[in-house]
Amino acid sequence: MNNSLSFRTGVNNLVVGALIARKPAWFDGENMWKDPMGRSSASGRDHGGRLDAAIQKYGGTRETWLDLSTGIAPFPYPISGISPEIWQALPDEAAFERLIAAARAFWDVPDQADILPVPGASLAIAQLPRLAKPGRVRIVQDTYNEHAAAFRAHGWQVVPEGPADVQVDVHPNNPNGRVCDPATLASGLCIVDESFCDTDPTLSHVPHLVNRPDLVVLKSFGKFWGLAGLRLGFIIASPDRIRQLADWVGPWAVSGPALAIGANALSDPAWAAEQRSRLAQNAAALDALVVPKHARLVGGTSLFRLYELDDAARLETHLAQHHILTRCFPYNPRWIRLGIPDATGLKRLEDAL
Ligand SMILES: Cc1ncc(COP(=O)(O)O)c(C=O)c1O
Repeated sequence: MNNSLSFRTGVNNLVVGALIARKPAWFDGENMWKDPMGRSSASGRDHGGRLDAAIQKYGGTRETWLDLSTGIAPFPYPISGISPEIWQALPDEAAFERLIAAARAFWDVPDQADILPVPGASLAIAQLPRLAKPGRVRIVQDTYNEHAAAFRAHGWQVVPEGPADVQVDVHPNNPNGRVCDPATLASGLCIVDESFCDTDPTLSHVPHLVNRPDLVVLKSFGKFWGLAGLRLGFIIASPDRIRQLADWVGPWAVSGPALAIGANALSDPAWAAEQRSRLAQNAAALDALVVPKHARLVGGTSLFRLYELDDAARLETHLAQHHILTRCFPYNPRWIRLGIPDATGLKRLEDAL
């Protein structure tokens, strides 16, 4: 019995050892995945969604965990009609045009702007600092940390306030839901990351592209449509900027299935309207569960909620022991962010709380 246990452990160690040995340099080098609960990352680029590390620490399997550590909708857009040809062939121009036309109609993009599909808003974030000569970029804190990391990697100085050559706003902001008033956008290049804006399209800065050629708006498909693994996002900006970015991104950055699924989803405003009301309902139900537990709602969107309490890490650990993954922040020990659960998830959370 003991022998077989140590044998199994030995095999697991071998497998883990082999995986570690094969990790690409960037995986370890940036120290992004070392803390099982995602804090204290040396690079400052901590993220939600590290289920593997949580399973290693608290047990269970992917199937038994409820992952509320991200802002990805729990109701994914239904996938259908992806023919074998879409998987097999390189996507042709018509597939791009269909997606771009659907995106233009969905977000009511003015004629003055063009649209570039990319494999997730993350890729856009990594490329945008190349649009101007390195200088000072103002990124209001606290926010999604990839913007600052990307600008720093391209030699920019990142400042939280004061004069700058470029301004970046996450709108609504992750994690606290703060919105960016268009009147506060400075002149010059302004990047507005609307990855979480589709729950309330009335907030969008897209209409301002009519007379703001220096405005760049980002959209993420993965969150509102609940298909983050598909890797799809959009840059909406002036035609000359989109031409430049398209050159950097190359001809086949977005897969055929992503183009097709994205075009179907963006041509379906009725589904989007239903998604908004489902998410809003469940976000309210989540508040009703969490706020009475000595937590204050700081803000959020109907894709995630940020709560403040005396010891957020204690709640995080308690929920992890019930195999519910949430998100705390290295820079604020009182904050915990929860994604929106479906009905089953709400019940599990209620039982765990
Ligand atoms: C504010 C913000 N922008 C962009 C992204 C990246 O989105 P995508 O999955 O489309 O790359 C995230 C992911 O969490 C985010 O929080």
